[in-house]
Amino acid sequence: MDQYIGTPLEVRSDKDAGLFQVSRRVFTDPEILAREHEKLFQRCWLYLGHDSELSEPGSFLTRTVAGRDFIFNRNSQGKVNCFYNLCTHRGGRVCREKSGKASVFQCFYHGWVFGSDGGLRVIPQEGAYPEGYKNDSRGLVHVPRLEQYRGFFFINLDANAMSLSDYLAGAKEYIDNIVDQSEIGMAIMPGGQNFQVDANWKLWHENGMDPFHVQSVHSTYFEYAADATKAGTDRANAQGVSTAEFDTKASAEVMMAGRYKALMQTKTKFAFDLGNGHMAYDYPSNHGRPFAQWHPTWDPKYKAELDRVYQKAVDRVGPERTKKMAHFDHHILIFPNLAIVDNHGIMIRTYFSKKPAEMLVQSWTIAPKEESPEIRKLRLFSYMDFLGPAGFGTPDDVEAIEAAQRGYKGAEDYGGWNDISAGVAPKDPMTFVKHGDEGRMRVFWTKWQEYMSS
Ligand code: FES
Ligand SMILES: [Fe+2]
Repeated sequence: MDQYIGTPLEVRSDKDAGLFQVSRRVFTDPEILAREHEKLFQRCWLYLGHDSELSEPGSFLTRTVAGRDFIFNRNSQGKVNCFYNLCTHRGGRVCREKSGKASVFQCFYHGWVFGSDGGLRVIPQEGAYPEGYKNDSRGLVHVPRLEQYRGFFFINLDANAMSLSDYLAGAKEYIDNIVDQSEIGMAIMPGGQNFQVDANWKLWHENGMDPFHVQSVHSTYFEYAADATKAGTDRANAQGVSTAEFDTKASAEVMMAGRYKALMQTKTKFAFDLGNGHMAYDYPSNHGRPFAQWHPTWDPKYKAELDRVYQKAVDRVGPERTKKMAHFDHHILIFPNLAIVDNHGIMIRTYFSKKPAEMLVQSWTIAPKEESPEIRKLRLFSYMDFLGPAGFGTPDDVEAIEAAQRGYKGAEDYGGWNDISAGVAPKDPMTFVKHGDEGRMRVFWTKWQEYMSS
């Protein structure tokens, strides 16, 4: 029997019929978006920024999360804060810079001045107010909750929310595997990418979990990778560098040979429900990884340094964790709108919609602080080459989800449902046991309907 979930019908499932579907209205209906803003974004932990972005006392940056403007700073005493970027006088924007260092912030509207601890310091027309008017109650307003896990700061607009540590649940192990790629700490690389995509925010999150789009949407990349691997193998062999473990004679063999094949056999499962709507998948990597896997597509001059980084990690965290961290790609989707992708580099990405058919995407990349200049350069190139807004991966994904969003315009006329049924009741239960099926996406949608209905 059908089980309808949501108010009104947004997600429906029927296990006996092998069915799980999501109404296309969730991507187009302004009322549903308004409800998401209230039910999800005012209750979930949302990524704000990283400790390394506030390198010294007084460091600050301004950031938009869930449509709200914040000041994220380290005050003069070294304490990290997150204030609404909103003047307590008449709502002016207190800080208009993207980042910098400041012991005070002066609102540009009428000049009230606030300390880096948020306290109100100066009212230019103070004589117009009673004695004691300039007091703590008129300081900048702190976000209700600000917590961090290993340098990753999150905010919550609900003062009564569970702790960040409880919320992250199984995702913490994956964050550990990012952070422990460094001996001395990870640092966000200067800059980042902000761009708009003409699609609903959930389409991007869903795409990040979608196992079935990869071969078709990213076919250009796989063709390029096969050619580059072949050319790189010839180059390496000409220099006397062995590529035996990659066995790269032909593209089909690239996929299923050598170390890659061996790694495939080390695990029985690659996709994981991490709890609280988060999920991850780990996949043996068949390309170069800045931490710490040389591959024939990369110049052999990088091999010795990457091998050294690998060995140092073995000494630090042991061989098993190092193998997992260096030879596997990791996609971590943290509910509701954060993706951490560790493959050709490490991408941290959030997405948020103010209108149903648009989203603002914000992306950063993070790297070990001690990385050599050569590997850093290689990392940044590799990251932009695949994960950048004009890389091999991102534009293909954008094209796919924008096209779907345009299609939903037509679906507004007759309703319609997206089908996310693969794996609900498979006739061959072994088909996708390793790689995961659309159950990855159902992890998200099940939690989504839970928040939206409560
Ligand atoms: S609104 Fe900020 S000083 Fe008036
Ligand atoms: Fe993709």
